[in-house]
Amino acid sequence: MVRVDRLRKTFPPTGRNELPVEAVRDVSFELVEGEFYVLLGPSGSGKTTTLRCVAGLDEPTDGEILIDGQLVFSRSRSIFIPPEDRPVAMVFQSYALWPHLNVFDNIAFPLRHGSRRLRSQDVKRRVAEVVDLLRLTEQIYRPVTRLSGGQQQRVALARALALEPKLLLMDEPLSNLDARLRAQLRMELTRLTKRIRITTLYVTHDQAEAMVMGDRIAVMGDRIAVMDCGVIRQEGSPQELYDRPKSMFVARFLGDMNFFEGTVESAQAGIASVSTVGGVLTVTRTDGAPASGPVWVGVRLEDLTPASGPGPNVLRASVTARHFLGDAFLYEVRVGPNALQMKRPPSARFEPGQEIWLHLPPEATLAFPHEDSAPHIEGATDEPSVS
Ligand SMILES: Nc1ncnc2c1ncn2[C@@H]1O[C@H](COP(=O)(O)OP(=O)(O)O)[C@@H](O)[C@H]1O
Ligand SMILES: [Mg+2]
Repeated sequence: MVRVDRLRKTFPPTGRNELPVEAVRDVSFELVEGEFYVLLGPSGSGKTTTLRCVAGLDEPTDGEILIDGQLVFSRSRSIFIPPEDRPVAMVFQSYALWPHLNVFDNIAFPLRHGSRRLRSQDVKRRVAEVVDLLRLTEQIYRPVTRLSGGQQQRVALARALALEPKLLLMDEPLSNLDARLRAQLRMELTRLTKRIRITTLYVTHDQAEAMVMGDRIAVMGDRIAVMDCGVIRQEGSPQELYDRPKSMFVARFLGDMNFFEGTVESAQAGIASVSTVGGVLTVTRTDGAPASGPVWVGVRLEDLTPASGPGPNVLRASVTARHFLGDAFLYEVRVGPNALQMKRPPSARFEPGQEIWLHLPPEATLAFPHEDSAPHIEGATDEPSVS
C-alpha cells in the first residue's frame, strides 16, 4: 500500500558556519493496506521530516515513495507529485484550524478549495458523514475557538477524513491534550481507523501511545548518538520490540529495564553463559552481542521473580526500599554492588532489609553488546511533549 525506499532528506545549512542537517539518512518501510504504522522516536530523530516527505510538503534529497500503486516521488526518475495530488491527508499537532470559521466550514474548506473542488451537495454529504463519525453533530455550527482541545482535535481529524484519503498521516495529534483525554483518544482513534479500514502512518515520541495504537512500530534513533538520528533502529510489533529489543536504546525507549555488567564465558547461537557479580547466568543473546568478553545484561522490572531458594539463574539479593504504585510494588534491590528494580503485584510483599532469592528467566534476560550506549542515558519517558 505504501512503500518508502531509502528515503533521505538533508536540509541546507541555516547559517554561515552551520553544517547541513541530515534529518533523514536512510529510511525504508512498508505499510500494508489498513495497517496502523507508528514512527516512534525522540525529538529530532526525523519523524516529522519523514511524514512531510510522504505528504509531499518536503521534497526528499533521495529515495522513492510509492502510495497506492503510484510513484509520488523518485529522485532517480525525477518524479515529484505535489501534495494536493497525493491520495493523503494529514493531521498536525497544532490542528491548524481556521479560527474564524465554524466546524462545518473548517471541514468543508479543503473540499471547496484547491484542486478537489466538490459540488456543494457533495461537500454537505461528506461533512455530515465525518461529523457523525466523530460525534461533532451538535457542534457543527459552533466557532472552533469555542470547542475544547479534544473537540478541536476531532475537527482536524474530520477535516482530514472528509478528503477520503487512501493514507492518513498524523503527527503527534494527541500531544496538546491532557493525560486523561490523551489516553482515552488513543483507543478511540485506533478503533476509528480500524472501523473505516484506513491505512495510517502515525508519528509520536510517546512509547505508551505507540504500543497501544501501533500494529507495527518503527523506532527511530536518538539524538545523543548523532549517527543514529534519521534511521530506523528496529521495526516490529509492540510485543516484539518490548520482548526482543535489539539494542539498549530500543529496550529503554519501550519501557524500563535493569542493566548490569557481565562477561560472556561461553556462547551458542541464541544463548550465552555470562558471569556477573551475583553469579553465572544463562541469558538470551541479542543481535550483535559478542561470543566472549564484556556485555550489558538487561532484564525488565516485571521479569525479576522471587525464588524460594538457590538454583539455576537465581541470585542472592537484598531489598533496600519499597514503593507502593497502587497496582504494584516497586522494590529497590541490591545484588552485590548492582542496584536493580523489581515490580511485583501488591499481594506478594517483601520488607526493606529482607534477603531474598531472585530468578532471572533466561528467555527474558538479554545480553547486549558492551559498546552499546551506556545505561544512564534516559529514554522516552523524559522527552518533552514538543515535537
Ligand atoms: N526546515 C528545516 N530546516 C533545517 N533543519 C530542519 C528543518 N526541519 C527539521 N530540521 C532538523 O531535522 C532534524 C529532524 O527533525 P524532525 O523531523 O522535526 O524530528 P522529529 O519530528 O523526530 O522531532 C532536526 O535536527 C531538526 O532540527
Ligand atoms: Mg516532530
